[in-house]
Amino acid sequence: MSKEQLLIFDTTLRDGEQSPGAAMTREEKLRIARQLEKMRVDIIEAGFPAASPGDFESVRAIAEVIKDSTVCGLSRANEKDIARAGEAIKPAARGRIHTFIATSPIHMQMKLRMEPEQVIEQAVKAVKWARQYTDDVEFSPEDAGRSETDFLCRVLEAVINAGAKTLNIPDTVGYNIPQGWGELFKTLRERVPNADKAIWSTHCHNDLGLAVANSLAAVLNGARQVECTINGLGERAGNAAVEEIVMAVRTRKDLFPVETRIDATQIVPASRLVSQITGYVVQPNKAIVGANAFAHESGIHQDGVLKHRETYEIMRAEDVGWNTNKLTLGKLSGRNAFKTKLQELGIDLASEEALNAAFAKFKELADKKREIFDEDLQALVSDELVTPAVEHYKLVSSKFHSETGEAPLAELTLAVGGVEQRAKSTGSGPVDATFLAIESVAGSGSDLLLYSVNAITTGTDAQGEVTVRLSKGGRIVNGQGADTDIIVASAKAYLNALNKLYAGPERVNPQL
Ligand code: KIV
Ligand code: ZN
Repeated sequence: MSKEQLLIFDTTLRDGEQSPGAAMTREEKLRIARQLEKMRVDIIEAGFPAASPGDFESVRAIAEVIKDSTVCGLSRANEKDIARAGEAIKPAARGRIHTFIATSPIHMQMKLRMEPEQVIEQAVKAVKWARQYTDDVEFSPEDAGRSETDFLCRVLEAVINAGAKTLNIPDTVGYNIPQGWGELFKTLRERVPNADKAIWSTHCHNDLGLAVANSLAAVLNGARQVECTINGLGERAGNAAVEEIVMAVRTRKDLFPVETRIDATQIVPASRLVSQITGYVVQPNKAIVGANAFAHESGIHQDGVLKHRETYEIMRAEDVGWNTNKLTLGKLSGRNAFKTKLQELGIDLASEEALNAAFAKFKELADKKREIFDEDLQALVSDELVTPAVEHYKLVSSKFHSETGEAPLAELTLAVGGVEQRAKSTGSGPVDATFLAIESVAGSGSDLLLYSVNAITTGTDAQGEVTVRLSKGGRIVNGQGADTDIIVASAKAYLNALNKLYAGPERVNPQL
């Protein structure tokens, strides 16, 4: 039986970024966009250009470099937002505008304060405005999951006539259950007279833990695009997870009449990259990308797998990118090999200076760590991707003292705006002492919201990757740092977060 294509629309950079504290810089978004392209995502929703100049610039930068995926910008249903989105996606090889307006009684009455007829009129106008910039226009009736079916049918018929090519049906508040969600798709496709003129898409939130199940129910009822995010990142409980959708469709070929063009071996690298950049750690028992997703603990299971793998495994770890931890480079690798490897990983360091600095760090790391993997390199270059203009605080050197019965002590030399300053503090532990020492110089007045440490690879010589989330005056930033010494990694992460606060906001408000 020949299969229809299921389009994967990744919204990690837009809906995913709406997770508290997950705001990303333009460089970080570019790295993720490149990885999504490598993974062969069909459409990348790169952001919401009207939200702020920073968002606009990010979408535009992604539109300039991504060639193999469609680049999409989100906009509310007004002319100004749509013009911004149109401008941002202009350089794209293939650009899409995704416009939306709410259609549920509660949203129309309480949020929009519009009559249903006005909403239809605005939706139609929005699609026509968007068509002035691109033929590829997607429309979403926000909160479709709580909208009246008759009204939805009228809105959707009207926007198809106005030129929408994709109809995305969002369960904005994650209220639906699979059976009802599947039936809604069936009903809409039967009752909207011009239904066959558009691709039907599903966009599910995970408030009841049903985002993936609902999305798959929609696919079984005619949806041919799924909107999803890496690791299920997203507003509140998140969105449907890309990796689960892709692997469900692939593993249960017998049930789904569709296939995706995703390169599944890029799933784990994408998951790690998003986790590293946003500071959202993946739970160990998360399907597909959790550390335990392919681990067998019980003796009976281990015995079964050894005798015949399929006794307890429905997928192969290597097919989703586990164990592809490639030994990348060694101590003797030269600058050219290093540069080529970075290019392969989709990392584009802006200047020769940044490349030299990253290469020097690589040599330092190679002295401390026998084997250097792709993940080590990803972590290592993170610092160089922060533009020097915002590197106001820099770690020059550090000394830590920790002894039973003594208060841990951190002594640091920092470069602050290019001027060296010494900082010293004790604390309840070495990390606490380090942060207090930094604050004694920076005096940022920020609150620490999150501190997390992860080993990047296996082995006791692995680099520790630290995320620090700081909040100040309503802004939340994530800082990252990696080092074989986790106290040094912690200091780097804290300084990275301070640099982001110091650089000022890239965006006003990621929320819609
Ligand atoms: O959840 C939602 O309704 C959205 C829309 C903008 C599609 O993210
Ligand atoms: Zn959403």
